[in-house]
Amino acid sequence: MHDALKPPHHIAVIMDGNGRWARARGLPRGLGHRAGAQAVRRIVEACCDVGVRVLTLYAFSWENRDRPAAEIRELMGLLEEFIRRETPTLLANQVRLRTIGRMEELSADVVASLRRVEAQTAQGARMTLALALGYGGRQEIVDAARRLAERARQGLLRPEQIDEAMFAQQLYAPDLPDPDLLIRTSGEQRLSNFLLWQSSYTELYVTPKLWPDFTKEDLLDAIAEYERRERRFGRVTAQA
Ligand code: FPP
Repeated sequence: MHDALKPPHHIAVIMDGNGRWARARGLPRGLGHRAGAQAVRRIVEACCDVGVRVLTLYAFSWENRDRPAAEIRELMGLLEEFIRRETPTLLANQVRLRTIGRMEELSADVVASLRRVEAQTAQGARMTLALALGYGGRQEIVDAARRLAERARQGLLRPEQIDEAMFAQQLYAPDLPDPDLLIRTSGEQRLSNFLLWQSSYTELYVTPKLWPDFTKEDLLDAIAEYERRERRFGRVTAQA
């Protein structure tokens, strides 16, 4: 049914609902995150299969830092486990791992593991998997503004030279294209501080499915819906 789909170049995902998934089963939240990590594996593989070139996952938000310490430890443990287990698969499938966010918010061990896998997979040309960690869209914009202000202070730049293109160059991964499609699971219709600059013209797709239940078929449904929409970037089309 989805055979002829032309996938979006870049899909971004707000993976929401791990806690609700666990609660519905009378399980601790940690097991919801563990099931969420399985879904990450599934969706990375599915995106690779259908030819998505960039997948950005909101794995640990700036706001998530306010969660109880035990839950943060669990999330970081799952992240380390994911890196350890999946690195061979990423290498075998030519997937490049990247990170975006204020990485200094993570423990030095986790950052070191991530940097190692980023270096190991740097040649991966089939797909880029960008993990947003310690990430906030407003914080990213503030960081970009600080860098430009610093260059202006040093006399390397005049404020009137700053335009959208120059600003975008200061974001965490300036070489990645803006997302074409942003998927949010578990029903909430919010951006929650994710890719605020980059999502200006992104198609939004919200599904009631909880993240641990999200399957390849759900991904294909989202892509099919994206294909049905007409993307005009605020312009009037020839037919209008
Ligand atoms: C939201 O569920 C999800 C997160 C806090 C981040 C996503 C984390 C994972 C999928 C686990 C591991 C990640 C990797 C990359 C291996 P929630 O707790 O906010 O759910 P709720 O809103 O139902 O409480």
